[in-house]
Amino acid sequence: MTGKIPQPFIDELLSRVDIVALIHQRVPLKKAGREYQACCPFHHEKTPSFTVSPTKQFYHCFGCGAHGTAIGFLMEYERLSFSEAIEELATQQGLTIPRDMPFNQGTDHKPLYQLLAQAANYYAQQLRQHQAAHRAVDYLKARGLDGQTAAAFRLGFAPPGKNNLIQFFGKNTSMALMSKAGLVKATEGQYYDRLRDRIIFPIRDGRGRVIGFGGRLLNDGKPKYLNSPETPIFHKSQALYGLYEARQTHRQLENILVVEGYMDVVALAQFNIRNVVATLGTATTTEHIRTLYRTCQQIIFCFDGDRAGQDAAWKALQTVLPQIKEGRQARFLFLPDGEDPDSLVRHIGPDAFQDKINQAQPLSEFLFDKLESQVDTHHIDGLAQLAELAKPLISKLPESTFRAMVKKQLDERIGLTTQIPAPPPEIQRPTIRRPPQNTRTMPPLRRAVALVLQYPEIAQHSLPDHWQTLNTPGIDTLSTLIHQARQNPQTTTASLVEQEPDPKLRQHLARLAVTEITVQDDAAEQLRHILNGLLAKNQREQREQLVQKNQPPSQMSEAEKQRLREMYQ
Ligand code: GTP
Ligand code: MN
Repeated sequence: MTGKIPQPFIDELLSRVDIVALIHQRVPLKKAGREYQACCPFHHEKTPSFTVSPTKQFYHCFGCGAHGTAIGFLMEYERLSFSEAIEELATQQGLTIPRDMPFNQGTDHKPLYQLLAQAANYYAQQLRQHQAAHRAVDYLKARGLDGQTAAAFRLGFAPPGKNNLIQFFGKNTSMALMSKAGLVKATEGQYYDRLRDRIIFPIRDGRGRVIGFGGRLLNDGKPKYLNSPETPIFHKSQALYGLYEARQTHRQLENILVVEGYMDVVALAQFNIRNVVATLGTATTTEHIRTLYRTCQQIIFCFDGDRAGQDAAWKALQTVLPQIKEGRQARFLFLPDGEDPDSLVRHIGPDAFQDKINQAQPLSEFLFDKLESQVDTHHIDGLAQLAELAKPLISKLPESTFRAMVKKQLDERIGLTTQIPAPPPEIQRPTIRRPPQNTRTMPPLRRAVALVLQYPEIAQHSLPDHWQTLNTPGIDTLSTLIHQARQNPQTTTASLVEQEPDPKLRQHLARLAVTEITVQDDAAEQLRHILNGLLAKNQREQREQLVQKNQPPSQMSEAEKQRLREMYQ
């Protein structure tokens, strides 16, 4: 049950969190005077107008006007709700949110619990007695469900007709209460049973109290399922179908499987796979995960193998990360196309299904597989990108052995994958066995500057055409260094640094001059590679800009149109 989060706790949390560190993990910041800057993550820009003030613990974008605290940043950047953002910060800080529990909550909601228990009894009874119930029984039989399992989950039947339940409760039950419990719905001042001619799945809380219902049509109509609306005791973001039943049958669960559908929970239970819960047509929330980890140490998320399933799994991964404390685990099970757990367990049998559960993918493996599918792991740029993508995710993990292991795995993956055979020869890019230490996460241009500073002789080599036309920030510095090194072939790192008149920039160069960059291949080749990469990126960006400008009404000059045509030839 979610109570209101007390303001003093929020204040305490904000006083502990460092907004600079929080944002820097997601958007790399640069120090600028007393503040920090970056290109704004909330709108597209080339020069940084996004500032973070450590003294004010506040961010502000002079470009788009976005501003707020650490909480606001998380809400915007990670698309979290207010309470999820608080949750995330609290988890990071190792704090538990003290919820304001209304003092008399138990007594307050007693009439609701009672009413829902009675309704559940009524529906269960109708499945046995109602004259139309044979259709429901036939339906369940056709789906392979036995009477024992139906009874264990207290499945029921809401008969056809507008007000069977209303009549069952009679005049002594107030419509306001029935409405508050989500059992009836008013249309033009008239109340009707919400669930009609449907199989009923009572949803229980962890203590076994009925808090709501799911109702399934007996045919292919729409909507296939109708759930209770949100009520004072029923919250879809917290409820888990089957949790009570799962806790009942196992004293200590080793793991718990999260599936999508009511029927999946019930079917697996029938095959004696009872450690299963379903969300109620929503994505898995932080609240769900917290509840599950109170039950056991390992969550296995089960999804369809299709694109939507992959996306949902990725979302679940992000939600679970902040809660993987010491000893906790999460794994991912992807089902073959077109199957859900209900159909699959019937096709392959419970033993093979259990094997699949046992072979579910560990979180770290899913994480890296997914990220590696987004980058080109044959090249140093791709590996740097992999590190960049992985960093904010790893930073969501609380400090633990597991987190250290994932970090190590990142290093290994970067090392190992680079040993994969070189890309096809026609691509003609240098392959590097291991990315240099400390430069994996360095932006390319800064890496180029570091290379020239540390290996001034490479300035003598030929560089890609037009590299000076790059408009990447920092290109002037690189250009100056290369120019100076070419003028004086005997130049040293120290003299290149000392020639810089701007003290701030000089300091920056001094730091880059001593940053460890292990170059295993030819440094000149690396510099060319970086510049080629930047040129390609620049060209892509220019092309996109021109394409945008060409949207009607076109603001493009004839010369620009010609350039765009050339780019597409
Ligand atoms: P069956 O078709 O009976 O096997 O159902 P299923 O449980 O396999 O359903 P499906 O995988 O299509 O949907 C998974 C879950 O999403 C369901 O158990 C419901 O909680 C929810 N859901 C599906 N369809 C609807 C709908 O039409 N309305 C609402 N509110 N929820 C739905
Ligand atoms: Mn199904």
